[in-house]
Amino acid sequence: MPSLRKNQQKTPFKKDKYLFHSTVLIDSIIFALYHKMMFMSKIISGFSKLTKEEKINWLATHYFAEQTEIIPILKQYWHSNDILQRLHDDFIENTISNFYLPYGVAPNFIINNNTYVIPMAIEESSVVAAASLVAKFWSSRGGFKAEVIATTKIGHVHFMYNGDITVLKNYFKTKKESLQLATKSITKNMEKRGGGILDIQLINKTEKLENYYQLHVTFETVDSMGANFINSCLEAIAEEFRNDDIEIVMSILSNYVPECLVRAEVCCKIEDLGGKDPYKFAKKFHQAVQIASIEPYRAVTHNKGIMNGIDAVVLATGNDFRAIESGIHAYASRLGHYTSLTHCEIKNEMFRFWIEVPMALGTVGGLTSLHPLAKLSLEILQKPSARELMMITATAGLAQNFAALRALTTNGIQKGHMKMHLMNILNQLGANEVDKNTIVTYFNGKTVTHRAVEDKYNELRNKN
Ligand code: MEV
Repeated sequence: MPSLRKNQQKTPFKKDKYLFHSTVLIDSIIFALYHKMMFMSKIISGFSKLTKEEKINWLATHYFAEQTEIIPILKQYWHSNDILQRLHDDFIENTISNFYLPYGVAPNFIINNNTYVIPMAIEESSVVAAASLVAKFWSSRGGFKAEVIATTKIGHVHFMYNGDITVLKNYFKTKKESLQLATKSITKNMEKRGGGILDIQLINKTEKLENYYQLHVTFETVDSMGANFINSCLEAIAEEFRNDDIEIVMSILSNYVPECLVRAEVCCKIEDLGGKDPYKFAKKFHQAVQIASIEPYRAVTHNKGIMNGIDAVVLATGNDFRAIESGIHAYASRLGHYTSLTHCEIKNEMFRFWIEVPMALGTVGGLTSLHPLAKLSLEILQKPSARELMMITATAGLAQNFAALRALTTNGIQKGHMKMHLMNILNQLGANEVDKNTIVTYFNGKTVTHRAVEDKYNELRNKN
């Protein structure tokens, strides 16, 4: 009996425990389901088929807890001209607004004795100012000299082959002509403009990857960047080349174009460099370039400064800055370590500073003929050929590097940079035009820091 009593006492407890466990279990299931629902509700099918308004509303509902403020933020950047807005909408999928970047111009560039105003699209405050300053500086010292070294572009059919290499070589030899013929309908117009396929070679890559071979195809694409042309040719070549023993992996252009190369340079007597001590300046400048050529930590920042100029022109002219970036950085690593893209020489009392970079640019086709501002940029540049645009863009990179190294080896970069950044700080603080003018005048010749500007702004506000 005692044991029964014990059991009787135990039973309600067990039941409570059971109840307790089931409640916790149910709660957890509800919690998990709720979270799953919440999570699932952020996943959407057919988003691209929604209208622009529907896309924005969906975003507001699911990612901003119905906060409708995001709607006017997005819409205020819609273009008032419907046709223009539709053009931008169609550049990509799921466009919900436009993302503005400042579009500026740097005048006074003399390149190969021609004068240019260079358009630049960039958000960094000091870049256009630096380009303009350096352009003016070199305009009275002979200007920039630039040349295109080569314009060959490259693409590959990557494939696997597990048989006898001699059989493959013979097959390639017998096929080579028909590979070119297979692209005839694609190359017809390009050939009329002086471009086309230059050569097709079979490359054995099996030492690096078992069974891996390439058809290495070289192209001249004249004034177009040529990505679509090259990829279409490659796909046609691959189709013609495939057989039961050849497994095509992919056909694609390479953004590494070491044979599409441009050089720009400036050169003057050291004494003409001006300043307090031009010899000391030239020496320090040269040292800065040497450091970037052997120290990758410095080379990356050094080259980043160059890309400030290059990317800004590439963007403003509707070219593909990601392609240019990846190709240029690969080129900077071609010697087995990452190094400077610019070079400096001090010899026989002369200062010479130059850049050599690969650059596949276009002045026809793609966004260059679609985006109204890209078209305008090319008009500002007096409708350059792709070769001319390569020279202009390389020059912008060189100028930017000259500006950075001149500042770094003399006054330091922050003085000029913060002076340019002053307006950004004032806009962040919400300063009105009167305050802005007062503060800009106040900081003339003084060191600009975020704190100092904020203090001055508060002082001014408290007075008024
Ligand atoms: C900043 O955008 C670019 C620099 O850092 C380049 C350089 O250090 O040479 C100033």
